[in-house]
Amino acid sequence: MCGIFGIVTRSERPLGEILLEAGRRLSYRGYDSVGCATLNSDGIIDLRKDVGKIDEVGKRLNFSQMRGNRGIVQLRWATFGAPSQQNAQPHLDSDGDLVGAHNGNVVNNVELREQFIAEGMTVRSSNDGESCVHAVERYLDREHDMLSAVRCAYQDLEGDYAFVIGSLGDGHLYAVKKGSGLAVGLGDDFSCVSSDLPSILPLTRRILRVYDGEIVILNAGGAEIRRVEDGSLIERHAETITESMEAVQKGGYAHFMLKEIHEQAVVSGELLHWLEGAQALAPILERIQKARHLYLIGCGTSYHACLSGAVYLGNLARRAAIPVLAPQFIAQYAPALSPRDVGIFVSQSGETKDVLNAIEAAHRSGMNIYGLVNVIGSTLTQASERWLPLVCGYEISVPATKTFTNQVITFLYLAYRLANRSTQPLFDLPRLIQQTIQYSDGQVEQLAVELAQCNDLYCLGYGMTYPIALEGALKLKEITYAHCEGMLSTEFKHGPLAAVTEGYPVIFVATQRDIPLLVSGINEVTCRGGKAIAIGPQDSRLRANAHQLLTLPPCDDALSALLAVLPLQLLSYHLSVQRGFDPDFPRNLSKTLTVD
Ligand code: AGP
Repeated sequence: MCGIFGIVTRSERPLGEILLEAGRRLSYRGYDSVGCATLNSDGIIDLRKDVGKIDEVGKRLNFSQMRGNRGIVQLRWATFGAPSQQNAQPHLDSDGDLVGAHNGNVVNNVELREQFIAEGMTVRSSNDGESCVHAVERYLDREHDMLSAVRCAYQDLEGDYAFVIGSLGDGHLYAVKKGSGLAVGLGDDFSCVSSDLPSILPLTRRILRVYDGEIVILNAGGAEIRRVEDGSLIERHAETITESMEAVQKGGYAHFMLKEIHEQAVVSGELLHWLEGAQALAPILERIQKARHLYLIGCGTSYHACLSGAVYLGNLARRAAIPVLAPQFIAQYAPALSPRDVGIFVSQSGETKDVLNAIEAAHRSGMNIYGLVNVIGSTLTQASERWLPLVCGYEISVPATKTFTNQVITFLYLAYRLANRSTQPLFDLPRLIQQTIQYSDGQVEQLAVELAQCNDLYCLGYGMTYPIALEGALKLKEITYAHCEGMLSTEFKHGPLAAVTEGYPVIFVATQRDIPLLVSGINEVTCRGGKAIAIGPQDSRLRANAHQLLTLPPCDDALSALLAVLPLQLLSYHLSVQRGFDPDFPRNLSKTLTVD
């Protein structure tokens, strides 16, 4: 949800390439528009920005030629103000000697804009990021120094955001965090700040974490962290990040999504090994066992993993769980929560605002809050009592793939442990995943050619495959822009069947035990001319009744259901490419949704 990066270097240098590269690594957070600003010692701010993706805008506006000893780059995902040159960030203050950019949302920006105009400031856009700059300008005009002006601005700006700002009047950059991610990188002759680590780690591995209510003052020789409240200095030691950066390269694949789909065999194995040795698991399992109610909470793909989790826990461990979308958790259950309840909050990013709001509601009830999260150090890891990592490394592509698989595997693993079953069969998953991808990729690519013109599809599942059908449908609509609805297969005849005409594609996802039921559903579609595509085990009934069968390797139903997501991910990918879209960066979306 927008990305910011700022850097201060010891001497003036070509900063453009550094800003471009940092921006590229943040582009999963927003790609409506992009802007770069450099501040140089001649007292000039060079600001270039426009609508479009970073490579195209960067080339057109020659970002690589920008020089300075301070620089800021911002990637925008529009919330306040349409994508336009004026609304692109960074923004200048009235006189053009202050420049800044934000990520997140300043929710009172409309009121603030009126105040700034009434106070005589020049407001150029309808974007809330500009409010951050004028909020600082307001206090500089009242003779505050930069630190004090930023602290006062923080009090005026409502919402969840982080911003970075620099003035020609001194040699620093200032950054604040209030509800949006922010981390600092320390180098030998520079320091930098960013919404996320992928833009920092190629420059330095020494990282300072920043928390809400803190201001960072960046110098070439280091960074100072102070409390917004009283300006006092905070002592914090840098940590060294050892994580591999391979994940943020495409590694020979055409898109990150394809690479991340293929990585699932490896990351599933790593997760299982982690879980097998995890001490942290015993108290979580014990608490889940005893909980009055167990809630599984997430949004989008992570919610679908919660649905899978509930099916596995119910079926395998006889532990009832309530899967619920994060905002609905607040609306529906907040008044009924008790300290005897447990909530597992599931999120790839750990920054999804809807999920964090749900955690806030859960906190008030005194219930136990556990996290299932990919980004270590994210707000979710800080807000939960205990959390389990997804062990996926960076997931760059906006459509979640490998993190979904590892979320589901974690639930499967928990269900096996709660059921006192041996977890050994799960260790077959990496091989089965590899095999499924190998078997289905070519077939699916061909199917994508056949379906390329379809703008309406259904994806149906039952029992263990119901969440998988929903996830497949989400992937399909997210990156192909076709309308695809996921549904319980038995519900189809209660209404949507009316849409079926000659050649109408309906995908059925089946496990062995549900084949008879799915075969009925398939025939209800085919006898009306619809095209039935089945994903399931090698089975003569599926083969005879569906037009096409994408087979899954023989294995237990619980594992087979999970494997079925792989052909659906691949189908979405190939269909997106067939239709001429970029699956990594679907229009209107962002990887990390830090707004309401
Ligand atoms: C998945 O492909 C989507 N990009 C989206 O639904 C995502 O799962 C959702 O926004 C939740 O994100 P989170 O897992 O980071 O909380």
